[in-house]
Amino acid sequence: MKKYGNIFILTGAGISAESGLATFRAANGLWNNHKVEDVATHEAFLRNPAYVHDFYNELKLELNKAQPNPAHLAITKLQKEYTGANISVITQNVDTLHEKAGNQNIYHIHGVINQAVCLNCGHILETWGDVDTETICPQCQVQGMMKPNIVFFGEDLLYMNQVDTLLRKCDLFLSIGTSGVVFPAAAFVQTAKYYGADTVEFNLEQTSNNFYFDKHITGPAGTTLPAFVDELLKK
Ligand code: OAD
Repeated sequence: MKKYGNIFILTGAGISAESGLATFRAANGLWNNHKVEDVATHEAFLRNPAYVHDFYNELKLELNKAQPNPAHLAITKLQKEYTGANISVITQNVDTLHEKAGNQNIYHIHGVINQAVCLNCGHILETWGDVDTETICPQCQVQGMMKPNIVFFGEDLLYMNQVDTLLRKCDLFLSIGTSGVVFPAAAFVQTAKYYGADTVEFNLEQTSNNFYFDKHITGPAGTTLPAFVDELLKK
């Protein structure tokens, strides 16, 4: 393997599977038997905010308890020991396992579970406590305008300007544990490839995006990623 200068790491629910968190598209997926239309759309939130808040408050309890696994820790090792490279983690996950593992340069493009955003003033409230329709924004003092800082279907992804820049300049693109069916994240590999990056996919199976990957590393990320990182560090 050559020496890389800019590494873009895209992660999905599969990287957290070995931490005991369900993925989205497996049976008993992360929506916990809720319909996506009831908990992850703007319309659902307008229709029944209390229901949506309850769902994310419950999910928050579960995600708060989860601990990082060897795949998250392998990223920490890479960021610490692969000197001279910019290494960014672009995650679709709303859990905080990358943070708990000590990863740096993390972009939660689908939002993050321990934040709520005030729809009145834009203030981001960070909390592991419950947020509900009674919550008062600590900045503007308006009650009942807090929304979980989760990107619902139909909303724009977060950090897209930074992500676009990182995608154009990366020379190694790693995709870990994502099915590659939710856009625009599913198209990131295509952009990275277009701008000349080497592209590697880590998954239990080949995804529908396989055309754009130079290499597929099949197996649980908790095993395959630490091995890959050790190989990179040998160079
Ligand atoms: P998915 O549930 O669609 O896909 C998880 C992927 O991880 C699958 O391809 C699995 O084969 C793979 N996988 C499972 N266990 C693994 C392991 N131990 N090691 C490696 N791979 C493993 O989850 P995402 O691709 O993250 O969006 O889903 C993308 C988005 O769809 C989510 O962020 C969410 C959802 O709608 C929002 O919430 C906006």
